[in-house]
Amino acid sequence: MKKRSARLRRNRASLGHKIRYAARRPERVVPYLGRLGRDTWLRLKHRDHVEYYRAVMASDSAKSPEGAVGSHTHERWLALGRLQFDYLAGHGLKPSDRVLEIGCGNLRAGWRFISFLDAGNYYGLDISPDILLAAQKTLVRFGVQDKAPHLMLVQDLKLDFLPSEYFDVVHAHSVFSHSPIEVIDECLASVGRVLAPGGHFDFTFDRTETKEHHVLREDFYYRTETLIELAAAHGLTARFMEDWEKTGHPQSKIRVTREPAPAKLQDA
Ligand SMILES: C[S@@+](CC[C@H](N)C(=O)[O-])C[C@H]1O[C@@H](n2cnc3c(N)ncnc32)[C@H](O)[C@@H]1O
Repeated sequence: MKKRSARLRRNRASLGHKIRYAARRPERVVPYLGRLGRDTWLRLKHRDHVEYYRAVMASDSAKSPEGAVGSHTHERWLALGRLQFDYLAGHGLKPSDRVLEIGCGNLRAGWRFISFLDAGNYYGLDISPDILLAAQKTLVRFGVQDKAPHLMLVQDLKLDFLPSEYFDVVHAHSVFSHSPIEVIDECLASVGRVLAPGGHFDFTFDRTETKEHHVLREDFYYRTETLIELAAAHGLTARFMEDWEKTGHPQSKIRVTREPAPAKLQDA
């Protein structure tokens, strides 16, 4: 508990934090400098965030697609996918639901959703062609081709090519943690249209209780109220998912709906 609250007060962009971190973990200094050099070069080449992050994903996927989505061992990759699936299953996910996964990566959780859902009910989108190619390999690896999932390359999160009121569940794990506020705003402006009545959009984010900041424009830290207010500005209801905190995952989760929160939750 103490550890978590110290983490929430940390500003990773500050010089003081960087010096203290380097002193504690000297072995991480060289890899960090390598990343700093690569990211600075990619940012100079690609002014637009999506183009920049696509280039980051191309570089990371070339080393390891599982590493590119944040899992440094196959066991962690399996466990992180299971965590996402179990959470939604515990919240009543049904095989007949239609699921849209934003930033599906190489289907760490996606293959489990695909395997569980009725054929044709999974839609995964991503900005990175490299990770979508890796996603196709995941479909083959787990033998879920017959479920006919939809994998889509996108340039933005306007979602304008998707049908209205169609998806029971929209899911984005570890995507807004890599997104500037304009990208999140675009997504929240669009997601209400594609959500089916009674549907929900769950996303994780890197939470801070201090100044909002980013590291290398790869990792973005937001205050909960910023994201809840942004959702409200688009006519959506957003609530912090306390039960997700118990999973021990370092990111937090918010659920967005088109409808007002149930009365019991409003009073809490
Ligand atoms: C850390 S990975 C997580 C992948 C997947 N959600 C999972 O949990 O395994 C983040 C993914 O989001 C994608 N991504 C980042 N920004 C995006 C955006 N604006 N729109 C769609 N996908 C995005 C990246 O290409 C990458 O595949």
